[in-house]
Amino acid sequence: MVRLAIIGCGGISRMHAAYLHDLRDRVRVTVAVDLDLARAATTAETLGATLACTDYREALEHCDAVLIALPHHEHHPVGLDCLRAGKHVLMEKPLANTERQCLDLIEAADAAGVTLMVAYCMRFHPLSMALKRILDEGAYGVTFYVSVWTEQHTQYPADHWASSAEKLGGGQLFSHGCHYVDLLLWMLGDPIEGAHIGTNLGTPWMEREGTSEAIIRFADGAIGHHGATWGARGTRLGYALHAHTTEGMLEADFGGGRLTLIRDGVETSLLETEPWSKHGMGEMCHFLRCIETGETPITDGYASLQGLRVIWRLYEAEAQGRMADLSGLGLPDTSRRLPADGQR
Ligand SMILES: NC(=O)c1ccc[n+]([C@@H]2O[C@H](COP(=O)([O-])OP(=O)(O)OC[C@H]3O[C@@H](n4cnc5c(N)ncnc54)[C@H](O)[C@@H]3O)[C@@H](O)[C@H]2O)c1
Repeated sequence: MVRLAIIGCGGISRMHAAYLHDLRDRVRVTVAVDLDLARAATTAETLGATLACTDYREALEHCDAVLIALPHHEHHPVGLDCLRAGKHVLMEKPLANTERQCLDLIEAADAAGVTLMVAYCMRFHPLSMALKRILDEGAYGVTFYVSVWTEQHTQYPADHWASSAEKLGGGQLFSHGCHYVDLLLWMLGDPIEGAHIGTNLGTPWMEREGTSEAIIRFADGAIGHHGATWGARGTRLGYALHAHTTEGMLEADFGGGRLTLIRDGVETSLLETEPWSKHGMGEMCHFLRCIETGETPITDGYASLQGLRVIWRLYEAEAQGRMADLSGLGLPDTSRRLPADGQR
C-alpha cells in the first residue's frame, strides 16, 4: 500500500480526487497540502486523509510518494526536496521551467533511487492508446500526418500565477501544448526540424502566446501539427487528433469519446469511451506499478525533458526567424511503448 501526499489542492487535484477512492486497495492518501489550509482540509476530508497542512515538509514523514500539483515555478524547489527525502514523485506537467531545473530533478531521482514520473495524462487516455497501437501495427498503412487541435477558453485572473509568463514558464505551447508535443513524439518517432508561430492577439491576458501553431517534421518524412488556442469563444474541434495514413484517416475525438476510421468515404467506429475525461486513473495506475516493480515510467523525467527541449528549440527559432533543428530529441526506448498497466 503506497501512502500518498497531495501537494497542491487546486483545480487539477479535483480530477485526481475523483478516481483515487477506486484505487484504495493500492494507494491511500494520508496528507493534503496547500498554502490555503481550507482547501487542504477539504481535499483531506474528501479523500479520508488524516492530515491537512500548509507546509509540504510536514507531509514527508507521513508518505512514500507525492503528487505535486503546484504552479509551474514551484515544481523544481518542492520536487527537489521531496526527491531528496526519498519520496516517489508524480509531477504534474510540465516537469519544470528550465532545462537545468529538469536535470536537477532527474539527477535527484536517480541519486535517491525513486520513481519520477510526469503526469502526461493524454498518454493514458484509451483513445490515445488505441490509436498508438493501430499506428504502430500499420493496420491502415503508413502514417504521414498527425494533427492535434485543442481549442478552449482559458483565462486566469491577473493576479493568478498562470498569468505570469515567468511562473507559467512560457505560453500556451509550453503549458498545455507539452501534452501534445509529447504525444506527437510518442506516435511519430524522431523529430528532425520544426517551426512555431504564436500570438497573444485574442488572448491579451497572456504575456506570451495564447494561440500556438507548431509543425514538426519526423525522420521518416511524417509531419506532426499542433494547433491550439486558449482564446476560443466557441469550438467545433474541442480536443481532437487526426492521423492520416495511406489507407484512411483515424480521428480520436476526445470530447465525443470516439475513435473513428474514415476510409473510402465510410465511417467505422473503432472504440467508444466516456466523453472527454483526463483519465488520471490510468496514469496513477502506471505510477503505482512503477513504484511497485521498479519499472521506468513511460513518461519519466528524461522523456518529458525531450518534449520540453523541442518546445524550447521551437521558441528560440521563432524568436530568430528560422526553422528549429530538432534532431536528437526523440524519446528514449522506455518511453516509446504502451503502458503495461495503463488502465484498470
Ligand atoms: N493534466 C492536465 O491536463 C492538467 C490540467 C490543469 C492543470 N495541470 C497542472 O497541474 C498543476 C497545478 O495546476 P492547477 O490548475 O491545479 O493550479 P491551481 O492554481 O488551481 O492550484 C494550485 C494550488 O497550489 C497551491 N500552492 C501554491 N504554492 C504552494 C506551495 N508552495 N505549497 C503548497 N501549496 C501551494 C495553491 O494555493 C493552489 O491551491 C500545474 O502543473 C498544471 O499545469 C494539469
